[in-house]
Amino acid sequence: MTETIFKPGLEGVIAGETAIAAVEQQSLCYRGYNIADLANNTTFEEVAHLLLYGDLPNAQQLSMFNESLAQFRHLPDAVIDTLRKIPTDVNMMDVLRTGVSMAGHFDPVKGESVDDLRRRAMWLMATCAGIVAARYRLINQKDTVDPLPGLNHSEQILYQCLGEKPSPTAARLLDLTLILYAEHEYNASTFATRIVASTMSDMVSGVVTGIGTLKGPLHGGANEAAMEMLSQFTTPEQADAWIHERFAKKEKVMGFGHRVYKNGDHRAHILEAELRKLAEEKGQQKWMAIYDAIKKPMVEEKKIFPNVDYPCGLTYYLLDLPIDMYTPLFVCSRVTGWAAHFIEQATHNRLIRPLSKYIGEPSRPVAPIAER
Ligand code: CMC
Repeated sequence: MTETIFKPGLEGVIAGETAIAAVEQQSLCYRGYNIADLANNTTFEEVAHLLLYGDLPNAQQLSMFNESLAQFRHLPDAVIDTLRKIPTDVNMMDVLRTGVSMAGHFDPVKGESVDDLRRRAMWLMATCAGIVAARYRLINQKDTVDPLPGLNHSEQILYQCLGEKPSPTAARLLDLTLILYAEHEYNASTFATRIVASTMSDMVSGVVTGIGTLKGPLHGGANEAAMEMLSQFTTPEQADAWIHERFAKKEKVMGFGHRVYKNGDHRAHILEAELRKLAEEKGQQKWMAIYDAIKKPMVEEKKIFPNVDYPCGLTYYLLDLPIDMYTPLFVCSRVTGWAAHFIEQATHNRLIRPLSKYIGEPSRPVAPIAER
């Protein structure tokens, strides 16, 4: 008989193998490349190629990858009509989940070979970005904007939201967050997506599952929750008083802590350095003072470090993006990691089906209905 072990939340349990990313205290690597090296020397499209194809593209491969993305950027009218019909106060993650599900009925990629799955992943990348931008326009009572040939993925997202070419700073910072968010081995949404793949279901169902899982504030929803928290303060003193009240109530602070990283999140260090420059460039050091007023006691008194969502929330805020778009932007990136894991699971499959430990009523007979 197989030995059984029980770990609440699967903490510390190795639930499968992967060649896509390694999350360790000392480093984070995508397919053997250190995240800082990727952040300094690549674009999001190169990273997406790396995740889906196993290596960084050469110039010709990158150009073919970009052509495929460009070819997939137009959303079917039926999807835009659906987005228009959803009440404007519905959370954008819910809209994205519905939009991807609807778009799945118009999937232009046929077949299930590895190459088909990679092309479907590119279509999903373009589709998620298109849905987020279209919804942003529609809730602002504006017409949707057609993609502009020649823009990279980050520029395209911002262009289709704002209707004008973004500043180089905004495009570069969005690109950096997409690189940092793209992949993180067996996090909750990726594991959920792998479970879908393990049943031999389809990639769109896997991505819809990933979106629903990422939404929660203990996972990707933390970037919005962290900014909601910061936005209630106008001074660092208020933030300092609030955080100490929070400690007294033993309540969690969103954007801090991590199941794996116990000495800090590599991605947070990289992004925070850029956030500091952005705040200075924009004359918004006030926000960094509030940011630090929360971070300092968390680190010094609780030894709990910011995760990537903490600097990301404020970065998006300083780029003037509305808060309910932050987790959808996370999806626009993580969809590549989900797809890479879907392919890896599908091609080395074993159904994911753990056990549970029963803690309910002991065995009992069914009483006739008149006696219950
Ligand atoms: N604020 C205050 N206390 C915390 C926090 C936090 N953010 N995170 C952990 N702790 C405390 C926790 O209360 C517990 O204390 P005690 O031992 O006294 O009960 C101790 O640290 C261990 O926490 P845990 O909940 O057992 O740790 P975990 O490995 O299950 O938690 C986590 C990981 C991410 C769920 C948790 O840190 C958390 O809820 N953080 C806030 C939400 C968040 O920022 N999520 C984003 C995660 S990373 C990126 C992403 O997925 O988007």
